[in-house]
Amino acid sequence: MPEPHPEPRTVVITGASRGLGLASATYLYQHGWRVVAAMRTVDRGLAALRAATGATEDDPRLLGVRLDLLDPASVTAAGEEILARVGAPYAVVHNAGIAAAGTTEELPAALWQDMFRTHLFGPVELTRTLLPAMREAGQGRIVMISSAGGVRGMPVISAYSAAKGAVERYAESLAAEISPFGLGVTVLVTGVFDTDIITDDGTASFRDFDGPYGKQHVSIDKRGRAAMKIANPPEKFAAALAEALEDTGPHRRRAVGADAVGLVTMAKLLPGAAVAQVIRVAMGQPRHGALRRR
Ligand SMILES: NC(=O)c1ccc[n+]([C@@H]2O[C@H](COP(=O)([O-])OP(=O)(O)OC[C@H]3O[C@@H](n4cnc5c(N)ncnc54)[C@H](OP(=O)(O)O)[C@@H]3O)[C@@H](O)[C@H]2O)c1
Repeated sequence: MPEPHPEPRTVVITGASRGLGLASATYLYQHGWRVVAAMRTVDRGLAALRAATGATEDDPRLLGVRLDLLDPASVTAAGEEILARVGAPYAVVHNAGIAAAGTTEELPAALWQDMFRTHLFGPVELTRTLLPAMREAGQGRIVMISSAGGVRGMPVISAYSAAKGAVERYAESLAAEISPFGLGVTVLVTGVFDTDIITDDGTASFRDFDGPYGKQHVSIDKRGRAAMKIANPPEKFAAALAEALEDTGPHRRRAVGADAVGLVTMAKLLPGAAVAQVIRVAMGQPRHGALRRR
């Protein structure tokens, strides 16, 4: 764990109301950061954060800002409110996210829109609003959260995978643009953590178990439930994020959790086709042509 910083630095964390965002906001607050928790429902989120940290209502190190990534006006307003209340933050953690299960034939177009608004378009807009002040400050870090699905396109979560893949490419572009100004970007390739997003209630399901993809849904669902049982605790992610906030280079990509480390290492060592085969077998997916009608 890094040494506490002498002056409280400010970190903005989106989606701080639950899951990894709540655990991270709590951890960073406890380790001396001033935390700006950006959330859809500020009252509920701040109550959860105060309960977790013991912070009082007038604590200047814990602030709530309303942010709905699906609403562009809310994103710009959140950025402006952050600048007005704390000036240039040292770090922005684009953590908020949604997940959805279903094949390309099953996922509705509106879901694709929401997926990209939440993971990419909203974070890009928030970054745009905050960057002039951060650039002026000449220091700081933007953290983007990727996933196994961002390392390689995974079946049945194509919208999520595509959005996380886009996040990874965006992070590289952004890093190249802002590093001359003293800023940097870190991508956290996150393994399976025990939060709502991996549960039936936390992931929108468009899967038709009686349809043509039913066999695939059954086997992927079975493996997903097995992974849920060995999910990492959110506090482990929070500690990894705290370390990542000390990164200094233009672009850093870190894997968080043993499963993510394994996948990232495999993807570095093996050709793409081999990685796809390993994933197919691990997910119990039928072979090429196995479901052909004739
Ligand atoms: N947990 C895992 O296994 C895992 C693995 C890889 C990557 N990740 C990534 O880690 C990040 C955090 O996920 P989590 O596991 O903490 O999930 P979670 O427990 O479901 O929390 C999701 C958070 O995102 C917020 N959010 C969703 N849509 C939003 C919107 N339109 N505007 C603002 N906030 C919104 C939620 O706010 P509300 O409370 O208002 O709904 C909530 O705070 C996500 O980017 C996810 O893709 C998670």
